[in-house]
Amino acid sequence: METVKLYNNVEVPVLGIGTFMISPEDTEKSVYSALKLGYRMIDTANAYMNEEAVGKALKKAINEGIVTREEVFVSTKIWATLYENENAVDDTLKRLDLDYVDLLFIHQPAGNYMAGYRMLEKAYKDGKAKSLGISNFEGEKLEKLLADSEIKPHVIQMEAHPYCTEKEIRDRLAEYGTATMGWYPLGHGDRGLVNEEVFTKLADKYRKSNAQIVLRWHTQMGFITIPGSKNPDHIRDNGDIFDFSLTEEEMAEIAKLDGTKKYYHADEEQVEKYATMHLPFEG
Ligand SMILES: NC(=O)c1ccc[n+]([C@@H]2O[C@H](COP(=O)([O-])OP(=O)(O)OC[C@H]3O[C@@H](n4cnc5c(N)ncnc54)[C@H](OP(=O)(O)O)[C@@H]3O)[C@@H](O)[C@H]2O)c1
Repeated sequence: METVKLYNNVEVPVLGIGTFMISPEDTEKSVYSALKLGYRMIDTANAYMNEEAVGKALKKAINEGIVTREEVFVSTKIWATLYENENAVDDTLKRLDLDYVDLLFIHQPAGNYMAGYRMLEKAYKDGKAKSLGISNFEGEKLEKLLADSEIKPHVIQMEAHPYCTEKEIRDRLAEYGTATMGWYPLGHGDRGLVNEEVFTKLADKYRKSNAQIVLRWHTQMGFITIPGSKNPDHIRDNGDIFDFSLTEEEMAEIAKLDGTKKYYHADEEQVEKYATMHLPFEG
């Protein structure tokens, strides 16, 4: 598996399985089958309500000798209502049944996100997180976080796909060496994206599916990509993208789609609401 090296030398597999909006039952099955198929990275979050399922699938794969803990990169995200809860990291590890995660994010730039980030920095120093991330940060809040943080984020997770590559944010973070992990890599199921003519043409050329072409584009952009799926055929196909490479001309042709669509638009008011949206397990 190709990897992206973070500025602290931690290596992240370029491809992982995403688990947003996947039930615990399906998450357990998907993550287990992904690990069996050679995936070595899993992305979850407090708010997906499936961290326990991720932990169970990983434990099963470890017990069966499919992987070791050290071979699998697990990322999760602390939800905004928990930024001032001193037990949030330990509770997260408990749900995942892990001693550490490989990457720990704050999920949203809402509420007291600096307290959330300081909690992450403490987890890093305590060995409970091997790298740190921010998710959905931009503009002034991104600047504040960069100015006030001691350990600059190793990774930013944000919407990224051929319609939207957030070049400005990536350029801003380049000086820190912050890597990009893109969410909605396949447009969250938008067939319009995957069925763009350019992907159909390249799928014919390389004898791959359109989705595989899109995912290969992500990895060649240097993005860590985490397509979500509960379909075993899709999980297998999404992992089978490393036996071909798009040419520079083909990458340039795909670049023409950049800037044409963003699926998620949250204004300040909406983002701040996340800090009051408590998760069921908070009681
Ligand atoms: N930080 C954040 O705020 C944030 C926000 C959103 C997402 N994320 C993360 O990013 C991950 C990816 O985003 P996402 O899952 O929402 O969207 P996505 O990966 O762009 O798309 C998932 C959709 O694509 C379908 N799909 C997957 N592989 C396919 C294939 N080979 N051919 C055709 N369709 C395919 C899936 O259906 P099937 O199940 O049928 O395969 C599902 O409907 C999430 O799972 C999550 O881990 C983070």
